[in-house]
Amino acid sequence: MMRAYCRYHWIPTLAAINFRSDNESPAAPEMIEALVRANESYEFAYGDDGYSAALTKKFSDLFETDLVVFPLATGTAANSIALAQMCPPYGSIYCHAHSHINTDECGAPEFYSAGGKLVAMQGEHGKLDAADLSNLLSKTGELGDHEVLPSAVSISQATESGTVYTPAEVASLKTAALTRELPLHMDGARFANAVQTLGCSPSEITWKSGVDVLSFGATKNGGVMAEAIIVFNQDYAIQLGRRRKRAGHLLSKMRFVSAQLARYIEDGLWLDLAKKANDAAQRVSDGIKNLDGLTLEHPVQANEVFVRIPDAIADGLYKAGFEFHRWPGTTDLYRLVMSHCTTTDEVDAFLQKAGDLCE
Ligand SMILES: Cc1ncc(COP(=O)(O)O)c(C=O)c1O
Repeated sequence: MMRAYCRYHWIPTLAAINFRSDNESPAAPEMIEALVRANESYEFAYGDDGYSAALTKKFSDLFETDLVVFPLATGTAANSIALAQMCPPYGSIYCHAHSHINTDECGAPEFYSAGGKLVAMQGEHGKLDAADLSNLLSKTGELGDHEVLPSAVSISQATESGTVYTPAEVASLKTAALTRELPLHMDGARFANAVQTLGCSPSEITWKSGVDVLSFGATKNGGVMAEAIIVFNQDYAIQLGRRRKRAGHLLSKMRFVSAQLARYIEDGLWLDLAKKANDAAQRVSDGIKNLDGLTLEHPVQANEVFVRIPDAIADGLYKAGFEFHRWPGTTDLYRLVMSHCTTTDEVDAFLQKAGDLCE
């Protein structure tokens, strides 16, 4: 059998069922059709095209407020450029220890902010706790110029543990952040999955709860390199265009990203795609609860399932062709990610095999 390297394992390439990452899933046909349509004519470059121009209105309607949209190609760029708007070189950003900005962006937030410091906090199930944040912030300020200036708070929605913040939880974090007048950034690489689970409006879970800037992701949920920074608090839009250009993310053929983003939020496509992924994750989670030997690590509230699996069972599942990551730094914690492409048959085949191996 052919083998290929991935970050955490040597993995078989011919395996049939991929629960490794939503980044590995195919794009949604609707998004490809949007790309094909955007390819039918000449368009002005660098975001001066009709697709990009139309985004402000479309996203303003979706979020029920005035806002500014900056399309770009990756979630790392969205997070880092957004945070650089909030955090000076001598500032700090409070985030969860397991947040993508802290563990998986190779220092990009620090790089783009020209030295901003990430303050990594613990928190159950991947979430920051408002009381902890208040407490930590209350301990700053005594050392004057010797300490970094608290400058921003960043949370992920859905979190890297597959959980979601409720609007009340986001609002409490904002209240805590405001004790030091800090803005709130939301990493929404899986924003659709969170909104679909919460069943709330996009506005309720963002600016109405105190979010100033959102990194809005579409790539993991059916897009092809389609992300955006959505700025609700216009203070953080100032010169963001130049920052994006400087970072190499003012794409000459921006229309292809913008056309996707427009299609993504049209007719609820983004939530329909997220529902497929979330439903599959729920099915996996429900099935695992009935298996002796496998233990869920976090509540399953989006499209990711974190589960403790004994070695022999994990090996058996790998050998049977199921692909999923062991979580870095652990020996028996695994992450299974469902996408808009995951089928009920795939989930049931996994549960059947896991059940057999548990006996
Ligand atoms: C929570 C979260 N934020 C941000 C990103 C960054 O996205 P990208 O890989 O497009 O830079 C990811 C990617 O996996 C992610 O999981």
